[in-house]
Amino acid sequence: MRAKGFLLEILSFAFWAALVSTSLWRSNGLHDQQVRDVAEARARMLFTMVETMRLWNASHGGLYATVDDSNQPNPYLDVLERDVEIFGRPYTKINPAYMTRQLSEMFRARKGMQFHLTSANPIRPANAPDAWEATTLAGFAAGGREVFELTPVEGGQAFRYMAALTVEKPCLQCHAKQDYRLGDVRGGISVSLPAAPVIAELEPQRHHTILVHGVGFVLLWGASLLFIARLKQSWRGLAAARADQDRLITERTAELRAAVDDLARSNAELEQFAYVASHDLQEPLRMMGTYAQLIERRYAERLDDEGREFIGFMTEGAGRMRAMIDDLLAYSRVDRGPPVFAAVDSELALDTALANLAAAVTESKAAVVRPSVLPLVWGEAAPLARLFQNVVGNALKYRHPDRPPRVEVTVATDKAGWATFSVRDNGIGIPEDCRERVFQIFQRLHARGAYPGTGIGLAIAKKIVERHGGSIWIEAAGDGGSVFRFTLPLAK
Ligand code: HEC
Repeated sequence: MRAKGFLLEILSFAFWAALVSTSLWRSNGLHDQQVRDVAEARARMLFTMVETMRLWNASHGGLYATVDDSNQPNPYLDVLERDVEIFGRPYTKINPAYMTRQLSEMFRARKGMQFHLTSANPIRPANAPDAWEATTLAGFAAGGREVFELTPVEGGQAFRYMAALTVEKPCLQCHAKQDYRLGDVRGGISVSLPAAPVIAELEPQRHHTILVHGVGFVLLWGASLLFIARLKQSWRGLAAARADQDRLITERTAELRAAVDDLARSNAELEQFAYVASHDLQEPLRMMGTYAQLIERRYAERLDDEGREFIGFMTEGAGRMRAMIDDLLAYSRVDRGPPVFAAVDSELALDTALANLAAAVTESKAAVVRPSVLPLVWGEAAPLARLFQNVVGNALKYRHPDRPPRVEVTVATDKAGWATFSVRDNGIGIPEDCRERVFQIFQRLHARGAYPGTGIGLAIAKKIVERHGGSIWIEAAGDGGSVFRFTLPLAK
């Protein structure tokens, strides 16, 4: 979990770092574009100014200015009235190109932006283009009108702009001789703008952007870290809760297991006791019975009637006790040893049971109805036969005095893997409040003389059913009899 949290921290760092650096990279690109845009706007502005001034000059057919060191007559200007005198002072005509040159020189002195008038085949050789201008002019000849570029220059980089100069009407006054025509492109003005100052001028903006991104990154990542910390906290809470739950379950399971173990142990002890007691009681009981018989045989004449009656009670009591002990042994044997289950044909179990009951069936003239096919169940063959025998035998035993007994066995299976057997009789029936009691050991509903037996058959039946994981219960049959139902697992 620690590692998971750490991984999240790294991941969130990577995520925001990637996002912020992408944004920064994009902003940087935009900033560079902005620098270019600013430089281009300035260059174009300068060009427009110069072009407009030139047009103004041309529209006056050139302008006169006094001759001095910086303004000598232009040897390339081939007009009659180039040099004049007004009030004794010499004046000379300044054509647009000459004015452009003078302005350009003044500009150069101030450093920074520069411009240059040029043409592919100049009247004045110094107006010849440099390499860059030559290429650009060639581009204009092919139809271009404007070029803007960042180019390497001496001592750094410069933005260079150049636009075409088109021939307008006033230009023809002087240039008609060179075959200039209206709308022709006969040259251009190139503007050069050192890159460094523009970049420097806009640099604070870039710094600001970087700062904003840095702060943004720190804030976003910080927020993520906070969120992750919260997340980890809730994870820890969850894990603690789960551990608590696990511990509780383990504890409860252990307690439950201990209780079950205790129960099983005391149960086993009890059974062992019952088994040992009944087993060990057999011997003295046999002795008692034998000697009672001995007294009866040898000393009968010497006893009076009352004495013989007492001996009779004794023998009978010993006999009944033996029967009970035998039954008790049978009862405790049901659960001795671990179950060894296999697929058992319940049909065979019922066959065996009915064979064992043949005498009782004949004697009671009972009608036993059973299905021709019974399912395979999962259990132990002998106890299952015993189960059928006890339940069917019970139905035969408690028959109604007024009608011949009829026992009907049916079975239903369900999807959950269980078979429910029903044994319906038309006997004397069992009152509802006694239906639990009949399954208890040695519990009888009737006086001892009325029906034979110790009253253990159904207790054994219940034990066998429960050993197979099933349950057994009694319902009332419509005609006054009872229906015994029990469930057994189907063989897989
Ligand atoms: C008053 C006369 C005059 C007028 C008007 C005039 N020019 Fe010129 N132009 C010249 C002379 C002379 C030169 C030659 C060299 C110099 O002065 O630099 C020249 C040079 C040029 C050059 C430079 C290349 C070269 O041949 O040296 C260009 C381009 C040019 N003119 C375009 C124009 C245009 C476009 C107009 C109209 C706006 C115009 N000129 C108006 C006289 C004139």
